[in-house]
Amino acid sequence: MWGKRRDMTVRGRSPFNAEPPPSVLAAGEITAVDAFYCRNHGPFPDIAPQQWRLTVDGMVDKPLTVTYGQLTSGHSAHSVVATLACAGNRRAELLKVRPIPGKDPWAHGAISTAQWRGARLADVLDAAGVRHDDGLHVAFNASDVAQEASPVQSYGSSIPLHKAMSEEVLLAWEMNSEPLARAHGGPVRVVVPGYIGARSVKWVTAITVQPVPSENYFQANDYSILPPEADPNTAAPGEGISLSSLPLNCDILVPDDGAAIPAGPLTVRGWAMAGDGRSIGRVDVSLDEGRTWRQADIQPATSRWAWRLWSLTVEAHPGPMSLTARAWDDTGVTQPESPASLWNPRGYQNNAWAHVELTVSTWRAVTEVSSAK
Ligand code: MTE
Repeated sequence: MWGKRRDMTVRGRSPFNAEPPPSVLAAGEITAVDAFYCRNHGPFPDIAPQQWRLTVDGMVDKPLTVTYGQLTSGHSAHSVVATLACAGNRRAELLKVRPIPGKDPWAHGAISTAQWRGARLADVLDAAGVRHDDGLHVAFNASDVAQEASPVQSYGSSIPLHKAMSEEVLLAWEMNSEPLARAHGGPVRVVVPGYIGARSVKWVTAITVQPVPSENYFQANDYSILPPEADPNTAAPGEGISLSSLPLNCDILVPDDGAAIPAGPLTVRGWAMAGDGRSIGRVDVSLDEGRTWRQADIQPATSRWAWRLWSLTVEAHPGPMSLTARAWDDTGVTQPESPASLWNPRGYQNNAWAHVELTVSTWRAVTEVSSAK
């Protein structure tokens, strides 16, 4: 569907939601477009580039309407390699702690990395004569309509003006050197590196500079962390901690949780990412649930805004085996140990230590069984 690999786990057909197998993500820093996760709250709008218009208004001196041609040829193009991560990635581990009704059980794949190309949002805001008062917000609105929102409304969100003016934030029309696919917000989307994926609004058609965060359902109600005892169905708009910067996090992508593997050398692979533009200091792997640790090899950074892939080869001995990973950032902060301490009613932002359980068999035992038959 939508040009995606056949082995995606489809969490919903309409709206379309799908995540790739973890091993596919481990293949390289950049995720191929056909493997990139897809997270949607409504059906995709179909907007031809010639029809696309972007209005820029609110606290600006010269409100604008920009066409696709004006955006792509009237501003210099910039590229950034950035990881998008859904705040619900790794929710499946929170679901083992307590149920989270009405939310998809995203496993390890609601995260992917691409090279995005587009105009700097700051350049477009400057062209509109944006005011630079303290504490302003930049709200985005899109044309897809989300039936799940209350009341039903189009998708939107906002980011603080200081982030909007940062050089990494783009109005992107290309992904991995291809025109931005419709499934990923084509013809133009916002890309907010370092923030939860929900703020990277696809099919963006309106930008408003305003004194308060967006009142859109997905900013004011949904993507926030509520206290464990709160009822998400009765929480008031603005209640909870509104999510913006991604937290320090890591995950194990290879081997799969629950896999049966042969004894011998085993290369464990995964990703690590520090919050809002900081860097990864170290990634540790434990074979004894965190009593002792070894350091993984981390691939060099190509971008402040992308995950770092890591690997470590360990010896797998026959029997049950557990693997745990945790990352540290360059300020000496590390991840919380258990998902139980992070559980929240909407199941967001699980950044607990990554953990997989394996069964290790010997090839020899398998050969003996088959030759005895
Ligand atoms: N933008 C619009 N217009 N509609 C959406 O449903 N989903 C958001 C964000 N932008 C969404 C959107 C969420 S929750 C995420 S995680 C990212 O898009 C996912 O981007 P992707 O589908 O390109 O991976």
